[in-house]
Amino acid sequence: RQPIILDTDPGIDDAVALAAALFAPQCDLRLITTVAGNVSLEKTTRNALQLLNFWQADIPLAQGAATPLLRPLYCAADVHGESGMEGYDFVEHPRQPLAKPAFQAIRDVLLASPEPITLVTIGPLTNIALLLSHYPECQFNIRRLVMMGGSAGRGNFTPNAEFNIAVDPEAAARVFNSGLEIVMCGLDVTNRATLTPEFLATLPTLNRTGHMLHALFSHYRSGSMTTGLRMHDLCAIACLVRPELFTLKSCFVAVETQGRYTAGTTVVDLDGKLNQPPNARVALDIDINGFRHWVAEVLALAP
Ligand code: BDR
Ligand code: CA
Repeated sequence: RQPIILDTDPGIDDAVALAAALFAPQCDLRLITTVAGNVSLEKTTRNALQLLNFWQADIPLAQGAATPLLRPLYCAADVHGESGMEGYDFVEHPRQPLAKPAFQAIRDVLLASPEPITLVTIGPLTNIALLLSHYPECQFNIRRLVMMGGSAGRGNFTPNAEFNIAVDPEAAARVFNSGLEIVMCGLDVTNRATLTPEFLATLPTLNRTGHMLHALFSHYRSGSMTTGLRMHDLCAIACLVRPELFTLKSCFVAVETQGRYTAGTTVVDLDGKLNQPPNARVALDIDINGFRHWVAEVLALAP
């Protein structure tokens, strides 16, 4: 089992990724950290705690950054609903987050672990940038970072920038420049990683989890219930536990932080035009049928 820390901004596709991180037998989820992104930090933290309560999962959770490093927060309530997880009536959760911020909680888990841990990020990279700036000494115990973020082609937030990178470009630049081993799962694969209407129709009777996710999906605006819903964040977990489903290319990725129209763009140098050493492996292709099979398998393992 691979030890992981999941950094998230739930978010409806984040909720599915969390289910996979909890129930995929290959994952050993050690810590969850929340970040502002799809909605405010207060809401992403509440959503994450409600999900843990729904699954009765006793995983420690730390609350992270409320705003990007330098910019005001832009949310995506149009995609995930006002609460960030519109559509299902969760029972109020009884838990509090840990009494320390996410970047400190991540540091403590990393330094206490006898084996390296993989960071999986499915929101803006603010918490990870803070960790790397404040505690560079823990980098040695980060096995690698697998992210949902970026794009080698077009964006989904601005014409060229993907949401998670565009919300906090300075944080993303810090992470790509860190020397960490990075796997970037961006829109090139996640836009195609859809769940089909036929599969979605099986969810309400699959189990409690399927029933809950189906209710969220009827409010989720990434794709459509009739043509297929995009599971952006779930791709990061898939890439971790089923890497053979993805085609990765090592290349240099720069994050644009200056551009008037292009801030938050991941400039993916696919054919080495910039003469820089590779700093990431970028997912460029996905075996969609294999992905869909895996999703069905893993959701069937949930209660
Ligand atoms: C990313 O943006 C968010 O809305 C999703 O949760 C995902 O992490 C996709 O661009
Ligand atoms: Ca997300």
